[in-house]
Amino acid sequence: MTQRKGIILAGGSGSRLFPLTMAISKQLMPIYDKPMIYYPISVLMLAGIREIAVITTPQDQSQFRRLLGDGSQWGVSFTYIEQPSPDGLAQAYILAEDFLDGAPSAMVLGDNIFFGHGLPEMLTAANAKETGGTVFGYHVADPERYGVVKFDAEGTVEQIIEKPEKAPSNYAVTGLYFLDGDAPRRAKMIKPSARGEVEIVTLLESYLTDGTLTVERMGRGYAWLDTGTHESLLDAGNFVRTLSKRQGMQSGCPEEIAFTSGWIDRDKLAEHAETFAKTDYGVYLATLL
Ligand code: G1P
Repeated sequence: MTQRKGIILAGGSGSRLFPLTMAISKQLMPIYDKPMIYYPISVLMLAGIREIAVITTPQDQSQFRRLLGDGSQWGVSFTYIEQPSPDGLAQAYILAEDFLDGAPSAMVLGDNIFFGHGLPEMLTAANAKETGGTVFGYHVADPERYGVVKFDAEGTVEQIIEKPEKAPSNYAVTGLYFLDGDAPRRAKMIKPSARGEVEIVTLLESYLTDGTLTVERMGRGYAWLDTGTHESLLDAGNFVRTLSKRQGMQSGCPEEIAFTSGWIDRDKLAEHAETFAKTDYGVYLATLL
């Protein structure tokens, strides 16, 4: 099987939360003790993905490069792609077409945070599916803010509707999309919607119509957080803080995933621990040694 590649979409309208992030991308801001983008990067790394494209606005790219470099510090490789204007999530597949070069992909939105026992297994299963796609449905109190799954009487997925006025279920589609190598071709066929965007739901719809889209339900034991409002941004930070204080373990820690995956050696991890030695983060990395 062709190795799956990763895409992190950190550009577009989702990259600003005014007035907090007038000057910099939201995904560079911290969620408690580390930059927001560490969390989606960790998800891709947990899925075993090591070739990752980071899509940002042209003006933000230099800051992402400064933060993340070429990825070798974590045993992965980052490719940077500009999104000149935010014309929809599915546009990412068109921008990343050359990078993907026919490979299947996992795209994660730069402001989505996932946590849960069993997450690695869930990601591995999605990764193993060679054709079609897998997305994740998560029960939320406010589905109207998201793409929402419509089920028929038998519980089969009928449709995915973007930000419906009246939600047909409480299941939102999270910002994590496993699609096969055909996604760029399909994305290019999509006509922009009324709001002028190449909609991700339209891309998913094309797989759904072909009967090749799996909607995996992420149960209540998972946390899926987003940071689309000031309140949810603070909630996400508090969640991560509570968890790490209580467990004495990190979530969204690329150094740890790289080390346990055997992508970096002890010396490299020791270097990272030294860099952050004055923080709990660095102390934690040292304990892994
Ligand atoms: C986007 C997608 C939506 C999805 C959500 C997940 O919405 O369009 O389908 O449910 O991400 O975070 P946005 O956050 O761009 O409003």
